[in-house]
Amino acid sequence: MQTPPPGTDFLPPETFAGQVAVVTGGGTGLGLEISRGLAALGADVTILSRDPSHHTALLDEGRERGWAVHARSLDVRESKDVARVARELLADKERVDILVNNAAGNFVCPSERLSFNAWRAVLGIVLDGTFYCSREFGRSMIDGDGGQILNIVATYAWTGMPGVVHSASAKAGVLAMTKTLAAEWARHGIRVNAIAPGPFHSDGAAGNLWPDEEWAETLRAGIPLGRFGTAQEIAAQCLWQLSPHSSWMTGECLVVDGGGSLPKPWWSPGKRPKRPRSTEEGEGA
Ligand code: HXC
Ligand code: NAP
Repeated sequence: MQTPPPGTDFLPPETFAGQVAVVTGGGTGLGLEISRGLAALGADVTILSRDPSHHTALLDEGRERGWAVHARSLDVRESKDVARVARELLADKERVDILVNNAAGNFVCPSERLSFNAWRAVLGIVLDGTFYCSREFGRSMIDGDGGQILNIVATYAWTGMPGVVHSASAKAGVLAMTKTLAAEWARHGIRVNAIAPGPFHSDGAAGNLWPDEEWAETLRAGIPLGRFGTAQEIAAQCLWQLSPHSSWMTGECLVVDGGGSLPKPWWSPGKRPKRPRSTEEGEGA
């Protein structure tokens, strides 16, 4: 059974009516949920990713629900292909109002064992791909009525994270790109923001980052709210950021991670320093 599209429980049904949206990696995981929410709230959505079999879930649901959804096969690492697809899409739709740079590649590998090609693969998808798409669709926003770009990063963009030097470095670059483009393009009416989710289940993330329950449990133990997020709850925050409710927000990164990036306590759970509660507010308070 399909879950309700994110955002439809708190945003009016016409929130994105008349807007054209592009979501990279929009056929799976978080990208799929963002695309479902945008389409359900009236946007014309095109998803871009390499594997056409990843496009069928959104296209099938779109057919059932009468959404304007489309898909193109594209490897965002290939600058010429990005430029060609953007040109074709703009010739067809005339404008793009929303770009979500969500496509990513990741896996855990100690830095000293990471091959140059593996480094390039992840930097190419995350950092190069985000710039190529931002430049191509950003130009059309500059020439048109402005628009919005939302980049999906991770909190290790500023904390770092052992085992994912490629992804952490690339996401740090995307965060710098977010702030740079926000400052450069605000005068064109373009807002550029980011979302930094903590761990949530997707087949790509689970397969590459926590292949068994023991790994998942180690990650879960570091999240103060005690559980992974869901792609639907992260997508809801993305849709709020893309909606007119966030119209004065730009260059910002919203963390949605159950507290996972907050400082860790000085003590282990159950081993808090023993000291009676203060009774300043009254006996037994
Ligand atoms: C070491 C690896 C590797 C691994 C691939 N490589 N997997 N090295 N450990 N587990 C190396 C390969 O050996 C090769 O180097 C190079 O990387 C490129 O591999 P290819 O398979 O040819 O690349 P490609 O087909 O382009 O695939 C890209 C990919 C793949 C990034 C490697 O994982 C992918 O397509 N991922 C998409 C889905 C995904 O990762 N989703 C997770 C998003 S979660 P050599 O030297 O051998 O040629 C996320 C944030 C999570 O991003 C944050 C949690 C808090
Ligand atoms: P996912 O389902 O694996 O999504 C990754 C998407 O990127 C796929 O749809 C994939 O489609 C696309 N993609 C990969 N390489 C591409 C390329 N070269 N060109 C075009 N598209 C490409 O993973 P997810 O967990 O939902 O991740 C979504 C976003 O959230 C990513 O930016 C990720 O870094 C971020 N994030 C995830 C987590 C988490 O715990 N899951 C935490 C923090 C941040 P194709 O295979 O069809 O190309």
